[in-house]
Amino acid sequence: MYNYIIKGGSRLSGELDVSGSKNATLPILAATILNGKVSKLYNVPDISDVQTTLKILEELGCKIKKDKKKLVIDSRGVSKTMIPEDLMRKLRSSVIIAGALISRFGEVNFTYPGGCDIGSRPIDLHLKGFKKLGIKIDENTSHMICKCDKIINTEIQLDFPSVGATENLILASVLGNHEVVIKNAAMEPEIIDLACFLNRMGAKVIGAGTNIIKIKGVKTLKEVSYTVMPDRIEAGTLLLATAMTSGDIKLNKVCPEHISPILHKLQECGCRVEIDKNTIALKSNGKLVGTEIKTMPYPGFPTDLQPLFTTFLTICKGTSIVTENIFENRYKFTQELKRMGAKINVEGKTAIIKGVRRLHGANVESTDLRGGASLMIAGMVARGTTKVRKVEYILRGYDNLDKKLNYLGANILREEERNEN
Ligand code: UD1
Repeated sequence: MYNYIIKGGSRLSGELDVSGSKNATLPILAATILNGKVSKLYNVPDISDVQTTLKILEELGCKIKKDKKKLVIDSRGVSKTMIPEDLMRKLRSSVIIAGALISRFGEVNFTYPGGCDIGSRPIDLHLKGFKKLGIKIDENTSHMICKCDKIINTEIQLDFPSVGATENLILASVLGNHEVVIKNAAMEPEIIDLACFLNRMGAKVIGAGTNIIKIKGVKTLKEVSYTVMPDRIEAGTLLLATAMTSGDIKLNKVCPEHISPILHKLQECGCRVEIDKNTIALKSNGKLVGTEIKTMPYPGFPTDLQPLFTTFLTICKGTSIVTENIFENRYKFTQELKRMGAKINVEGKTAIIKGVRRLHGANVESTDLRGGASLMIAGMVARGTTKVRKVEYILRGYDNLDKKLNYLGANILREEERNEN
């Protein structure tokens, strides 16, 4: 495993293409089970969460071929309906494979999923929704054994617009002869991407991107070829890194609308932002002022960019306030940032940040995916050298972030972790 050794004081500049979205790819990979045929995917990010999901698909019986540009998944041979427990523990979104298996085979056996420790992350909304669809769940052991003769006509009212539950319920409702309505559905762009992929396959998913989604069951699905949407969180991360380093970049292959709350906030804090259809240009003169953000479901400020924005605020003038409304444990990284001289006071959902002139380098440890990336960008503006340990968290969800930042002018080395015992 590696550490990142980051020399502070660099300035990002240049032009870069944004990679495919992690959070769109993972449910689309689950969806490839449904057609029992070949799916060709383009713009799939090179990240370990994708590798883990592909391992699960292979264990279930899929044949997978990859080259640099294309991923081909042949789900004809899927025969197993038990999601391997060891792989299930590795990532949270493994739970949505359950929806695809139940839809195609009428049964699935799975355990509680793992994933980054950013909150309690229950799956009650997934299970409640499954039951409304007519799925019987035996929860008497550590496994959830689900069986279903047929999905029934029903209306599901989600208690919270959970992204994963919305995706799981869509996937579970694709095949059959029913009509399912999901109300208070999540409206994230990644849900639209999943629905577009499914509809390209022949499914009937109507209303994705709004809070009411209707799924009309279909009998069969066809082969499909699809390009995954750009990663809005990677785009936000690169923009925030540029803003912090008084940089000047242009991002290509991005959808500005998807990160509109961040672009507005960056402008409010003193950056110059110009958007075009699929590009965003950002220029920062380093004169940054603090602000207030509150995370919300889409189209509000995304929780996944909260750690990065909080990090950005550590060097903005004045006092800033951050409220995290989605995950109760998403401030762990601030303990590490404080080692670098950040002035952050966390109380419950709220973080109060007093801007400092400069951070300083330190030995820090990633606490989760976005927290880890936050430490990388903090290291780039810190005085001296920063060592970020446990980069495996960062590799779960960012496609070669170190190389992209270096390409734009950062000074980040990968160092092999030595066993110090
Ligand atoms: C997805 C994203 C993640 C993002 C999050 C919120 C993927 C692979 N991950 O995660 O990057 O941070 O959306 O935008 O797409 N909840 C329940 N019960 C449930 C399900 C969720 O209480 O059954 C709660 C969660 O604990 C959390 C909130 O709902 O507090 C949001 O979770 P959810 O939208 O489901 O997030 P994920 O799908 O896990």
